[in-house]
Amino acid sequence: MSEWETVKGHFLDLGLPDLHSCFNLTVPQMQHIAKKFHQSMLHGLTEQKGSLKMLPSFFNIPTGEESGVFLSIDFGGTNVRVSLVQLLGQGKIRVLKKISAFLRDPGGSYDYTAATATGRELFGFLAEQIAELIGVGETIPLGLTFSFPTKMQALNKAVLIGWTKEFNTRATVGKDVNLLLLDALQKRGLHGIKPVAVINDTVGTLMTAAYSNPRADIGSICGTGHNTCYLEQQPPQQSNPMIINIESGNFNRLPANEYDRYLDLHSEKPGEQVLEKMVSGRYLGALMRLVLLDLVRKGCLFQGVSREMMDFFSQAKNLDAEHISLVLGDNPPGFGKTAAWLKNAAGIQDLSRSELQALKIIVSLLTTRAARLVAATYAGVLRHLDPLLKRPHIIAIDGSLYEKMPGFASCLEKGLDEILQNSSGQVQLNLVKDGSGAGAAIAAAVAVAPR
Ligand code: BGC
Repeated sequence: MSEWETVKGHFLDLGLPDLHSCFNLTVPQMQHIAKKFHQSMLHGLTEQKGSLKMLPSFFNIPTGEESGVFLSIDFGGTNVRVSLVQLLGQGKIRVLKKISAFLRDPGGSYDYTAATATGRELFGFLAEQIAELIGVGETIPLGLTFSFPTKMQALNKAVLIGWTKEFNTRATVGKDVNLLLLDALQKRGLHGIKPVAVINDTVGTLMTAAYSNPRADIGSICGTGHNTCYLEQQPPQQSNPMIINIESGNFNRLPANEYDRYLDLHSEKPGEQVLEKMVSGRYLGALMRLVLLDLVRKGCLFQGVSREMMDFFSQAKNLDAEHISLVLGDNPPGFGKTAAWLKNAAGIQDLSRSELQALKIIVSLLTTRAARLVAATYAGVLRHLDPLLKRPHIIAIDGSLYEKMPGFASCLEKGLDEILQNSSGQVQLNLVKDGSGAGAAIAAAVAVAPR
C-alpha cells in the first residue's frame, strides 16, 4: 500500500476533498499535454499566435572553442550575480571572481523588483555591482542574462515584453534593457565595459552545456521561474539554426484545479504564466499555503484552530519553496524539522503523526505534479525536434528546484521516462550549475568573435 493509500482513509474520514485526484497526472494526461505543447510551439513559430511566444534568440549554440575573459551579469531572480569568467576553449570555463547582491533589502530600505523603483534605478544598481567587482578603468565585453521575455532585435538589443515572477519595476517594459544597462554604465564612468550580448537564462544554460557537449539541444530553468529553450534547425525567416526561447511558463492548455484558479486570480497578472504558476519556486509555496488554509478551515488538518495559526496561513510571505523543501526533506517517525517549524512559526502544538505524514504527502503531491508537468513539456519539445527519438539529446537544466528540492529531479526524470517509454534512453537530463551566468560570458564571446 502506498503512503497515500495509508493516509487516504484517514483523510476521507475527515471529509477531505480528494486532493490526490486534484493534483495527480496520469501518463495519458502527460502525453496529451506533450501533444498540445508541441501544437502550441508550431502555432507560435508559424503564426506567432497562442500562449507560446517562441522568441528568436539570435544565437546558435557555441563551438566550444570560444575563449577570453568576459563579464557576466545574471539577473532574474531574488538576487543578481556578477562574475568575471574565463573561457579556456575545449569546453572549459573558470569563474575568476564573482559577487551577488539582493535586489530587495530584507530590512525594507530598497526593492528594485517593485513598482517603487524604475528601470533606470534598477540598472544603476547593477552597474554599482559591476564597479564593485572590477573597478572603473577596465575594458571587458559583457554578456547580460536577463531572465524575462524580451523581443530580441540583435545580439545586444532586447526589448522587455513584460515582467513575470511578480516583478513590477516601473518604466522598463517596452524598453531595450541593454540600452538601460549601457546608460547606467556610462553614468558610473564604466566606459570600458561593453554590453555586447543579451540572452535569456534558458539560452545561457543551453549554451553552457553545449560549450562542452554538442548533443545538448534543450535548455531549461526550474527555479524561481520556469522556462525552456531549444535549438531550432529551421527558424522562420532565418537561414541558420537558432536557439528559440519558448517562454514555456506562459503555456496555458492545462488542467487547472480550484487552488490554481484562486492563485492565478490573485496574482499580479491573472491569466498569464499559467504553467509557471503550477511549477515554479515563486508560486509553489503559495499553492501549498492555499491548500493548507483550505484544509485548516474545513477542520481537516491541525485540529483546534487558533487565531495565531489562521494568521500564519493567511499571509503569503509565511510560506515559500524553502518550506516545501524542508517538509520534503524531513522524515518519519518524528518529522522533527516540520514540527519545530510549525510550532515556532504558527504556534501549532502537538501535531499527530498522521497529520505530519499527511502534510508531507500533500506537499509531495504539489511538487510531483510540478515535475510531471515540466516533463510533459520536455516531451513536447522532443516531439518537435526528433519525433522518433533517433538520436541522443541532452536537456540542460539549472535552477534551485531541480538542484535542491528533495525528489524533484528524480520525479521529473521518472515522468519523462513514463511518457517516452522505450525511447527514453536517448534523452539525458543534466544539471548545469550556474549555467545561466556562464552562458552570458559565452554569448559575449560569440558576439565579439570575428565572422
Ligand atoms: C521568465 C523567463 C525565464 C524564467 C526562468 C520566467 O518567469 O518569463 O524568461 O526564463 O522565468 O527564470
